[in-house]
Amino acid sequence: MLFIDKKISRRLFSGLLLVAVVPICIMDYGIYKIVQKVVLRSACTQIETVKMDHEHHLSIWFKELLNDIRIISQLPCIRELCGTHKLMGENDFAKTHLPDLAKEILIMTRAKSPSYKSMNIFSTSGEILASTDPHSDEILNFDHQALFDAALKTGEPVLGPAHQHSDQMWYMSLAAPIKTQEGEIIAYALAVLDASATLDPNMKDRFGLGKTGEAYVVSRNRQIITESRFLSRSETVDRVFSTEGIDMAIAGKRGTGIYTNYMGRKVIGSYTWLPQYNWAILVEMGEDEILSPMKTIRTALILTTAAVGVLSLLLALFMSRRVSLPIIRVAEASHEISEGHFEQRIPYSGTDEIAVLSRNFNSMAEKLANMITSLRHKEASLQKAYEELLEIQQQLIQSEKMAAVGELVTSVVHEMRNPLSSVKLNLQIIGRTLEKKDLLAEHYQIAIDQVSQLEKMFTDLLNYSKPFNLQKGLVSIDRLVDESLLQLQSLISCRATTISRKLGDNLPPLWADADKMRQVLVNVVKNAIEATGQEGSIEITGHVKNHNGKNLITIAVTDNGTGISSQDLKRIFQPFFTTKKKGTGLGLPIVKKIMEAHGYKISVSSEEAKGTVVRLKMQGAETHE
Ligand SMILES: Nc1ncnc2c1ncn2[C@@H]1O[C@H](COP(=O)(O)OP(=O)(O)OP(=O)(O)O)[C@@H](O)[C@H]1O
Ligand SMILES: [Mg+2]
Repeated sequence: MLFIDKKISRRLFSGLLLVAVVPICIMDYGIYKIVQKVVLRSACTQIETVKMDHEHHLSIWFKELLNDIRIISQLPCIRELCGTHKLMGENDFAKTHLPDLAKEILIMTRAKSPSYKSMNIFSTSGEILASTDPHSDEILNFDHQALFDAALKTGEPVLGPAHQHSDQMWYMSLAAPIKTQEGEIIAYALAVLDASATLDPNMKDRFGLGKTGEAYVVSRNRQIITESRFLSRSETVDRVFSTEGIDMAIAGKRGTGIYTNYMGRKVIGSYTWLPQYNWAILVEMGEDEILSPMKTIRTALILTTAAVGVLSLLLALFMSRRVSLPIIRVAEASHEISEGHFEQRIPYSGTDEIAVLSRNFNSMAEKLANMITSLRHKEASLQKAYEELLEIQQQLIQSEKMAAVGELVTSVVHEMRNPLSSVKLNLQIIGRTLEKKDLLAEHYQIAIDQVSQLEKMFTDLLNYSKPFNLQKGLVSIDRLVDESLLQLQSLISCRATTISRKLGDNLPPLWADADKMRQVLVNVVKNAIEATGQEGSIEITGHVKNHNGKNLITIAVTDNGTGISSQDLKRIFQPFFTTKKKGTGLGLPIVKKIMEAHGYKISVSSEEAKGTVVRLKMQGAETHE
């Protein structure tokens, strides 16, 4: 029965999984994906914002720097310096105090910002008119002409591209045209910027970029200009980098995406090409760091799903106990009933559906048990009726046979009795003439005995085979016994047999054929006398008992004679079965026939060498009879 339990539990669990856990899993997965999307989107926005912030700062910063150089270019003393230089020529100009004054101004301006590497004034022909650092390499070896041309063209301060000098450091240059009052360009103010000092402070502000984020600037030839968060400056000096973000930015595009950065890490990056500076700015942050809150969410979702799963399992177990256990009980009880144990009942409590099912089952079992009991009774009574029918049928067949045999025997015996009577009569006449001691007298006596025995046999045969009509009347049992013993008087008197009788006072009379019943008793007592020998004792008892309103009388004839062997006991009612020399073996068959004709019964119990009891069971006469 356990498999039913298991099956139901499994089905319940699968059902609960289907309606609870699976939807939760799908929902969890959906939620996870949505949250992931939102997180990534907001990270993109944040990174984009940080990038724009940097862009904005740089723009302000460079505006300030350009403004510085513009102010220098417009300072009257600087203009004067340049004007004087143009008028006086190189040698005379050097004698003036103007270069020193200009130098002081330049030194003061440079001191304004750490970005400034040097401040310089160049003549239109490229001579250094004043410089904070006139002998420095970046001044001496750098070709500023392109920048001056751009300044000449626009007439405004311009910013040159970032470039590396022999010291491997990155520099940028700002140039502003110095004009006369009339607007003629007579010189250029040039500021050399230390790119690191200019850009790095801005890029180092990593607010909002966590532990893995950074902002950096890349030159057109894919070199990282600013300080890297992950690589030392010496590592970035000569390297050219190529990532999706860098490539897209160099291609002049602006955007945000997920790609692998120059460290091989998956990042969310935002990139922009800044044509005014001729470089690209990139802001990146590790995807794993961005998605790290997802780990917590994922753990929470897994725990929720697991909790729902465990709850489903517990619920399934509880439900299976609550639902399947009673079902199992019903299944077991029905199995027991199918095995024939109708007393099987299911214990129940409460008033729920299970209790109703159990109660109905019990009442069904009760009805079934009652039905089966009544069917069994009916079957038993049917069986009894069938057996009685069979017995009656047998009796009918027997009586039909007996009737046929009886007719034959009657006619044969009738035909034989007359000659036999004639033989007996003639023998008796002959006997009168014989002397008693004569030898013939002895033969005569044998012949007479044989004839008498033949006569008895014919009489018994007639009694047994002839159908008889019972002449019923009230028969007193006392009287019946008296008359029977009287009839046997001659037999009793020649023996020392003691016959005692214990008949109750209250024995009711029989409604029977008195002659036939006497014949019964005579035969039974005669057999007892013959079995006990010379000094036997015979007891005739009688008692009555009331059964279902009927008086059942039993007359028992008990002797202490030879007894009957168990083998013979089976045959004593068969016609012609006898163990006696002069017996016909028709005594007991006639007795049985008479008893059955009255509806009475006879039974014999016996033990060899101890004695025999013959019981005659009869019904007392009813008052209406
Ligand atoms: N009381 C008894 N004790 C011992 N044997 C008995 C007794 N009654 C009957 N029998 C046995 O049953 C046999 C059949 O008895 P049954 O009365 O039919 O015939 P029978 O007595 O032999 O002959 P018949 O009655 O013609 O004289 C007997 O021969 C005897 O063996
Ligand atoms: Mg007999």
